[in-house]
Order: sequence, then structure tokens, then C-alpha cells
Amino acid sequence: MKTFPNDFLWGGAVAANQVEGAYLEDGKGLSTSDVQPQGVFGPVVERVAGDSGIKDVAIDFYHRYPEDIKLFAEMGFNCLRVSIAWTRIFPNGDEQQPNEAGLAFYDKLFDELAAHNITPLVTLSHYEMPWGLVKQYGGWGNRQVIGFFEHYARTVFTRYQHKVKLWLTFNEINMSLHAPMTGVGLPETSSKAEVYQAIHHQLVASALAVKACHEIIPDAKIGNMLLGGLVYPLTCKPDDVLEALQENRAWQFFGDVQCRGAYPGYMLRFFRDNGITLEITEADREALKSTIDFISFSYYMTGCVTTDDELNQQARGNILSMVPNPHLASSEWGWQIDPVGLRTLLNVLWDRYQKPLFIVENGLGAKDKPDADGMVQDDYRISYLNDHLVQVREAIEDGVEVMGYTSWGPIDLVSASRAELSKRYGFIYVDRDDSGAGTLARSRKKSFYWYQEVIATHGASL
Ligand code: BG6
Repeated sequence: MKTFPNDFLWGGAVAANQVEGAYLEDGKGLSTSDVQPQGVFGPVVERVAGDSGIKDVAIDFYHRYPEDIKLFAEMGFNCLRVSIAWTRIFPNGDEQQPNEAGLAFYDKLFDELAAHNITPLVTLSHYEMPWGLVKQYGGWGNRQVIGFFEHYARTVFTRYQHKVKLWLTFNEINMSLHAPMTGVGLPETSSKAEVYQAIHHQLVASALAVKACHEIIPDAKIGNMLLGGLVYPLTCKPDDVLEALQENRAWQFFGDVQCRGAYPGYMLRFFRDNGITLEITEADREALKSTIDFISFSYYMTGCVTTDDELNQQARGNILSMVPNPHLASSEWGWQIDPVGLRTLLNVLWDRYQKPLFIVENGLGAKDKPDADGMVQDDYRISYLNDHLVQVREAIEDGVEVMGYTSWGPIDLVSASRAELSKRYGFIYVDRDDSGAGTLARSRKKSFYWYQEVIATHGASL
């Protein structure tokens, strides 16, 4: 019987701005997420005193984390991916001294995890940065932000050096190409050249964080985080195959720089062909040489590309502008479900880098309805997750080194793309709807017991 390794990390993943709420409590400053009430693709709406949005309370994890962690422990989690809200530590982003109340919150959170033998996997920046750095400095377009981020990273590495040994730099760093405000704090109208310059600054900052982490916590491991958007050619027409190669390189480029420490030749050509001249200093080149220890990525779907203009026109508007795959079914949100693609992606990344891999997000967003007994019978979620985990196990059999699996949103949370609560991912149901109504009470779904069994049997029950 095939099982997962004994030291495999099993758990779930959440992000500060999607669960914590308490958006101005204990000295926290506004983040980009706080001014994007409609989600990561939505417009910036400056806050007016007294207004409120769904994320302001989210699922109130800031106050309810002990109860939630207890439930995660009951499922058998030995790992939880969380993110630190940068604005709890440096409210405006450019302060010298950190906000002690913010630091103290994460101390308590990590202590609670330790009390339940749950290893924290901590993202430094998950889809948010201090709004002050965007307003006053122009976001990642400004080189100065590298220094502010490094200061933040060093502060939290120093503070939590005995509590956190697994770190990630930027969530889905390649997402800046699709959502520049969320990724790099730039307006949607920014030119390609501006976005890639900001991305360059972020890649340098990521490498400086890797260096700092290795210096401050020698026994820690630090990884990157990619949106694993595997792309297939729609047909075997050689032009479609080449198009797919290039689309994949559009996101693999980030991993190439973070794993290999330099820009790949195909990107230099892309910049030349698009008239983009980046400012890359000698110090930047040196900094980039600090490469990551492992690769982490999210996996939700795959898509196809083609050189057929008409089909491409029809595909515009879907999340990554990919053409639907006729062989795959889709979720209620049009995300194409492809478990085998996860095995393929794990093998592709392993062949490319030979670094350990960590699946830090995967899951099904669905509209759950509790039955008469208050139970959500989410067989659709169980089948989605089961099919994906079977493929992870296959990849491990293929020889791929997989460190762990943290499913996205083990407890219902606010969705990133649309800032809604009706898109639920959890094993744990949260009583709150899109209007903000509900008691915030937590309850176990059917999938809660399914995941508990998977973890207890090291995957033998799949
Ligand atoms: C990833 C993000 O893109 O996908 C998460 O890292 C996000 O923050 C998740 O929540 C699922 O997307 P959505 O839009 O369904 O919340």
C-alpha cells in the first residue's frame, strides 16, 4: 500500500488579511488589502471613517485563533501556513521601531501552535503591503521599499527565531503580472516596464530575506511561493506548443531567478523584444545569488493556450486568460479541475530545480449549504482533495521530494479574488455570509472527518 512519508507535513493554509479581521486593532496600519474591498483585482477605494468591508472582521481569527487551532489539531494537523500582516509590525512600513502589540500577537499565535505540536510555515507577505508605502513611496516601483522589507524581515526573523523554522517570502510572486496593485503596489494602468522593474525590486528583496533568514536562523528553511499555473498547448500544432512553453516561462521565470540566482536568457530576450530596460545594479546581481531552500506553490487549475486569435478573444477575462480545456470539468467559479496536472507539475518543478517542493495551497471553492442538522455534506470537496492527494502520492512514487501539503482555507475565509465568503474552502464551516451577517460560529463539515482519517493513516485511506 502506498503511503506518504512519516515526516510529511499535513495541514492547511490561511492568510492574515483573509482571516484575521481586527484591521485597525493594536496599532495595525492599513494595508493594500484594506483598500481593495472588492478583492485582488478590484479597484483601490480609500477608507472613510465609519465604513466597513467584509475583510475588516473576516472570520475574526485575530480573537478566535485558539478555538480554530484546537480544531486543526483535532484533524491531526502537524503544520499550519499563516502569514504575518506586515502592517501589524510596521503600520506605515517605513518606521524604524516595530509595533510591539503586533509582534506580541504573533508570539501568542506561534505559542498556541507549539502547544498543539503544529509547525508554523510563515509567509512574510501574502497579497498585502503597507498602504503607506504605496501612497508615499510608490510601492515596489521604488527601490527604497527593498530596504523597508528587509528591515521587516530581519525584525520578524529575530523575534521568532526560536519559534518559526519554515518561512516563505512573497505569496504567488508571479501574480503581480495579473494584479499589480496586490502584488507590487502599482496601479493597474502601469506599463510592463514599470511592473517588471517593481518585480525586480521584489525579487531582490526576496533574496535579501533569504540571506537574512540563513544568518539569523541557521536551522531554518526558507522558500519562495509561486502560483503554479501549469499551461498546456490546446493542440499539438508546434506554434501552440511553443506558446505553452512561453506562457509557462512567464511564471517559471520567478522560480528560475529565486532558485538559480540570475535572470534566465529567455527573459533577457523578452525584455529586449518588448523594449524593457531594467535598472539592475551590481549589488542587485550579488543579492540575487542568495537562493531559496525549497519551492512552494499553489495549485488550483490548469488551462490551455493557443495561437488562434478568435479562441484567445473568447478566453479573455478568465483569471489567467487561458482557453478552457475540453477534457476537464470546472468548479462553480470556472476553475478547471485537473488532479493529474498536479502530478505533472510536481515532476516538472522537480526536474527543473531538484529542490524540495511544498504544495502550500490547493482546494475547492464551493457554495456550501448546511443540511437540516447543520452539517455540510461536502462530498464534492472530498472528491476534489482526494483526487489531488492521490496524484501527490504518485509524484512521490515518481521520486519527487515533497515536504508537505497544506490545503487552502482549512476553515472558511474571505476569498482573495472577489472578497466574498460564499466561496468556501474549509473543512470547518464559519457562520458568516457576504453581507457580514452570522454568528461566526465554527462547525465541522463532512470533509473534516475525511481529512482527519487521511492524516491519521498517512494517506492510506485515500
Ligand atoms: C491563491 C491565493 O491565489 O488562491 C489565496 O494565494 C487565495 O490568497 C486562493 O485565497 C484562492 O483564491 P480565491 O479567489 O478563491 O480566494
